[in-house]
Amino acid sequence: MTTTETGLPLFVLGRGTDPHSERGVDCPGELPSASDPALVERARRAKAALGDRVFVLGHHYQRDEVIQFADVTGDSFKLAREAAARPDAEYIVFCGVHFMAESADILTGDSQRVVLPDLAAGCSMADMATFDQVEECWEALEDAGIAGVTVPVTYMNSSADIKAFCGRNGGAVCTSSNARRALDWAFSRGEKVLFLPDQHLGRNTAVLEMGLSLDECVVYNPHRPNGGLTAEQLANAKMILWKGHCSVHGRFTPECVDDVRARIPGVNVLVHPECRHEVVTKADHVGSTEYIIKKLEEAPAGSSWAVGTELNLVKRLGQMFPDKHVTFLDRTVCYCSTMNRIDLPHLVWALESLAAGQVVNQITVDEDTTHWAKVALDRMLALP
Ligand code: 13P
Ligand code: SF4
Repeated sequence: MTTTETGLPLFVLGRGTDPHSERGVDCPGELPSASDPALVERARRAKAALGDRVFVLGHHYQRDEVIQFADVTGDSFKLAREAAARPDAEYIVFCGVHFMAESADILTGDSQRVVLPDLAAGCSMADMATFDQVEECWEALEDAGIAGVTVPVTYMNSSADIKAFCGRNGGAVCTSSNARRALDWAFSRGEKVLFLPDQHLGRNTAVLEMGLSLDECVVYNPHRPNGGLTAEQLANAKMILWKGHCSVHGRFTPECVDDVRARIPGVNVLVHPECRHEVVTKADHVGSTEYIIKKLEEAPAGSSWAVGTELNLVKRLGQMFPDKHVTFLDRTVCYCSTMNRIDLPHLVWALESLAAGQVVNQITVDEDTTHWAKVALDRMLALP
């Protein structure tokens, strides 16, 4: 671990490093107590003291107590663009998860500092693809003679070194709001796509939006030799899907859809594309968090909606649209535990530290990784 000029830890992340190994070593100094009644006032005061020097980004899955301090809220695509569009902000405080803060660091200038209020805010899906595993996979594709016709595309929910891998190998990044366009782009450059790390977003986009058959999609399991695939299976596949998934969206089942339809006549089922294929095919609408919000905005008063995505957002949608009936798709409630790591005490601590001249929990991606990851991110940002 290196240190900043203030003597506080600086977490340098990049190719070959484990972005989570040093998590939990955060909060030098006092983390405010969650029961401190002055927390809201403290956050307000620290943010006001920082003025235009700080820009706070908030992902839609963040808690209400945090989202109230966001200068802009959005899905991961919108937040990446917003970060890139703030060259004057000295500090970007990212209320989201680790891979999003890394992307913000890659897309912002050298003098800007990106801060993640709690370093334990990771993403279990992003952790399902490590750089070494992806290199091993690429070697298997080379051995099968198909690497030259395969374009790697990684979901935003991946570490910076996986994004850099895609940049180096002629590929791109995508998010849940532009996956179709990214795949169109990829198939215009190659015969096959290696899609990382979310098999569900890859399959749902390829099959439901682009008309590929399920047989044209194979799943590469990084824990089995050659991904558990024969050379023939690799040769016949168009989509090679990494065996990764979101543990939150993976909870929704086809039975949840049947159950809610039986309980609420006329309900519209609206899900995120990280849900399983069997769930998405039963739903009425599918799209990114930004799409989900737009759909609810446009919905007629009195209509009923069962939403299959993270609970903080679903609860907020219920509050935003009291004239519509909004319910969680599953009967068992479930938050994204890592998104929830960013709470008001951590935000207050980060803002007060910055106001006192201490840069804490800075997320920094090394130069080479930044270069190649930016190539892949820029390809995404340039999609028509
Ligand atoms: P969005 O791309 O819709 O922001 O989703 C990000 C995410 O982490 C979903 O689980
Ligand atoms: Fe990762 Fe799923 Fe949480 Fe999104 S909801 S940050 S994909 S674990």
